[in-house]
Parts: sequence; structure tokens; C-alpha cells
Amino acid sequence: MKIVCCNDYKEMSRVGAGMVAEIVKSKPACVLGLATGSTPEGLYAELIDMYKKGELDFSEVTTVNLDEYYPISPENEQSYRYFMNTKLFDHVNVDKANTHVPSGSAEDAAAEAARYESFVRSLGGADIQILGIGRNGHIAFNEPAEALYPATHVTGLTEDTIDANARFFASADEVPTKALTMGMGTILSAKKIIILANGKGKHEAVSAMLSGMVTTSCPASFLNLHADVTLICDREAYEG
Ligand code: GLP
Repeated sequence: MKIVCCNDYKEMSRVGAGMVAEIVKSKPACVLGLATGSTPEGLYAELIDMYKKGELDFSEVTTVNLDEYYPISPENEQSYRYFMNTKLFDHVNVDKANTHVPSGSAEDAAAEAARYESFVRSLGGADIQILGIGRNGHIAFNEPAEALYPATHVTGLTEDTIDANARFFASADEVPTKALTMGMGTILSAKKIIILANGKGKHEAVSAMLSGMVTTSCPASFLNLHADVTLICDREAYEG
């Protein structure tokens, strides 16, 4: 795993956006694997900036998001679909029809997971996948467990993740307890992966990921099995 240790959040976001921009410029019809959470917000703001300056064109881009709460409607302000529209899609020239997020309002969650998995596979995986990391080492909604799923699936959220994500909801009771998420194999099918981490709160998870072992107790450690992963982090996440 390559490591780029940045001075602060702004620099981390710029470096990450630069790597995404390189892909979009060299392959206009690329597939971008996108993530939600507070970490990549700065990266998306940088991409919007580049687009407004005329440096980037998203007209041929396809996007696939990692995950979505279940059940949740796309209009719900806490849904990952709403997040992506407001933080990126509404501000660039991507065709919304080419933006994909697992459907939190599908009647049959398992069928939606299977549909999403074949769709991502039919695209040949993402050209670049952006990831954040949970403070317990989760990626997307692959939570630490005895065993991990390779494909997109329905999953329960751990207490720790519900607690961490409660800040976006009126209370912890309102955080959905389930989600649809790409599995480890779906994520690892991306040609290139960048994982962003900032702040002391992520230090433990980053250290576990970098410990050199692959373990289901830190799903992010599976990224050590991929040939092209870059950790872009700030000093606090790296040094603690
Ligand atoms: C969420 C998301 C992850 C994200 C993580 C960290 O649960 N499903 O994709 O990486 O939590 O979020 P944040 O960036 O807000 O710390």
C-alpha cells in the first residue's frame, strides 16, 4: 500500500481529487467508485472546483456508490443518494442516469443487492474507488465480523457505527439499522483504490490496516491484497 501523509484535511482532499481527476482526464468514459461520509466531502468540493474552472468533464462518466442505508427513501436528507446529489452530482455535468447508488427503497433488499452486484460487475468494476474508513476499520458497510461477504449484500450495522453516524440524524434511534453494501470482492474489483482518513479518531483503524496482517476484525486490512491502493491521510490519522 502506498501512503501519502498530508499536513491537513485540505491537502488530503486535493491529493485525492488530483488522483480522481487524472482518471477522468485520461479516460472520459470512466467508472468512478464513490463513497459517502464526511471524509470525502472536501475531495468532492475540489472536483466541483476543477469542473467550474473548465478542467474536468463528467459528461461520459458513470458512478457507482459503495452503499446505502436500508430502508431509506432517496428523498431522505440522510440517504446516501441525497448526499451524493447535493455534495457532487448537482454541481457537475454528470448525467444523473449514469449515477448509481444501491436502492434503499427497493422492496426486496436481497434482490436489490444481487442486481447491484451484477451491475457493478457488468461495468468491469470501478476505474478508481474512493473509500473512507470507519473508526472500527469498516469500509463501506463491511463491519468487523468473523467472516466477511465477497459480494453486495444486506447487512446489519454495529452499535459503534450507528453511534458514529448518529451525528447526522436527530437521534441514534433514527439511524437505520441495516444497509446495502458492496462486499469485499466488489470493492477489490476496482482497478485502483484510494482510501482517505483524517483525524485522531481514525488512527487506531489506520494502524490496524497498516499492521501488515489481513484480518476480518479490520475489514480495511483486506486492501493489503490489492496491487494498487493509496492511503491518503493527515498526520493525526497516521501518527495518532
Ligand atoms: C460510514 C460509511 C463509510 C464511511 C465511514 C466513515 O458508515 N458507510 O463508507 O467511510 O462511515 O465515515 P466518516 O467519513 O464520516 O468518518
